[in-house]
Amino acid sequence: MDFNLTSDQRAVWQWARDFADKEIAPKVEENDQKAQFDFDLMKKIADNGFFAAILPEEYGGQAMDHISYALMTEEIARVDSSTRTLFSVQISLVEKPIMEWGSEAQKKHYLPKLASGEMIGCFGLTEPNAGSDAGNQQTRAVKDGDHYVLNGQKTWISNGTIAHVAIIIAQTDPSKGHKGMCAFLVDTDTKGFTSQKMGNKLGLKSSDTAELFLDNVRVPESAMLGKPGEGFKVAMYCLDQGRFSVACGGVGVMQACIDVSTEYAMEREAFGQKIGEFQMVQSMIADMAVDCECGRLLVLRAAHKKDQGVRNTRETSMAKLFCADAANRAAYNAVQVFGGYGFSEEYPVARIYRDARVLSLYEGTSQIHRIIVSHDELGLRAANGPGMPNNPIDRYSNPADLD
Ligand code: CAA
Repeated sequence: MDFNLTSDQRAVWQWARDFADKEIAPKVEENDQKAQFDFDLMKKIADNGFFAAILPEEYGGQAMDHISYALMTEEIARVDSSTRTLFSVQISLVEKPIMEWGSEAQKKHYLPKLASGEMIGCFGLTEPNAGSDAGNQQTRAVKDGDHYVLNGQKTWISNGTIAHVAIIIAQTDPSKGHKGMCAFLVDTDTKGFTSQKMGNKLGLKSSDTAELFLDNVRVPESAMLGKPGEGFKVAMYCLDQGRFSVACGGVGVMQACIDVSTEYAMEREAFGQKIGEFQMVQSMIADMAVDCECGRLLVLRAAHKKDQGVRNTRETSMAKLFCADAANRAAYNAVQVFGGYGFSEEYPVARIYRDARVLSLYEGTSQIHRIIVSHDELGLRAANGPGMPNNPIDRYSNPADLD
């Protein structure tokens, strides 16, 4: 087992770090205060090749591995969780599912444009009455000749108003439960498709969050992603990718908490000394550092599994659960280190604290991830597929060495 990065991975990490500090950081506070989505910043991200990160070169990608992708995502999140959400959705919830489930025609049509940022994508699963209970889709897709007609509503959709294409999960036959669900690639300029921005959020204020409305939206059969009845599996695949990216985001948030807290603790004085010299402040910083390192290792392990091409629902859920909750602990403690100033929007910790909260809500609440992990431990493996080894020695072995 080698814990060292390759020189390519190091270079990508440094490149993303420099970009985040130079291009994202100067605009974060203003975008947050005005609750505005930054189109100029999105263009810079696209022009610098971020959206092309992990796609194969034949589709306009840079063919990076998941470890590099994780490190890039961490760096963006260290500076801004809203920008990280844009990036995560584009790559993990849209590009990767098209790469995995798309027909060759779909890949050729969408992937180069998504990689260059000419197109932005979103993922439409959640509905007003189907959040954690993702199988309870009310959006309907009815076959009409060689087309499907979609009707329904989606909510809490990141990138929803800016997207050119949406992955829409819909039910074709409620009597079949999750086996009646289908996934579609819907161009957002299709007649009957509208979106509406959702405001009044606790955090992620400069992220684009929307409701989607589908009113007799007609799409050809060729718009289906995967086969009829595979919609739930496509959705779960999307989430296995998206959750990984959220976990990377949590690591970035923890690193940000450490950075701002250590700087402040070595500046601010109380009782005649730097507050960083007090053991109770040191204790909070130590907890952040341990959590951050644990989270990063969980993320990198999930990334390694993804690069091996083996099922990683368990590793991804563990990383998402831990990083989301630990980022919230870190943000709480960062505010604590700042004391009263932490309660003011004049310092970045208030925004970091607000933005961290969604990490344990979107893409599976922490409770959902405890279900996924515990079902795996208990041998109730519906969520992880049969044949996943429960023996830790097997888990840390190369799949090629296992029977
Ligand atoms: N990969 C592939 N297949 C999977 C899978 C996975 N990760 N998880 C489950 N499946 C398969 C199972 O193997 C099973 O297949 P069979 O019927 O062939 O055996 C099938 O799917 C049903 O599995 P379950 O019985 O486990 O399904 P369930 O109904 O009990 O639900 C759940 C499982 C884990 C609770 C799931 O519903 C879930 O993850 N819910 C949370 C949804 C969520 O995260 N929503 C947030 C979306 S965020 C968003 O949309 C906003 C945004 O823009 C960021």
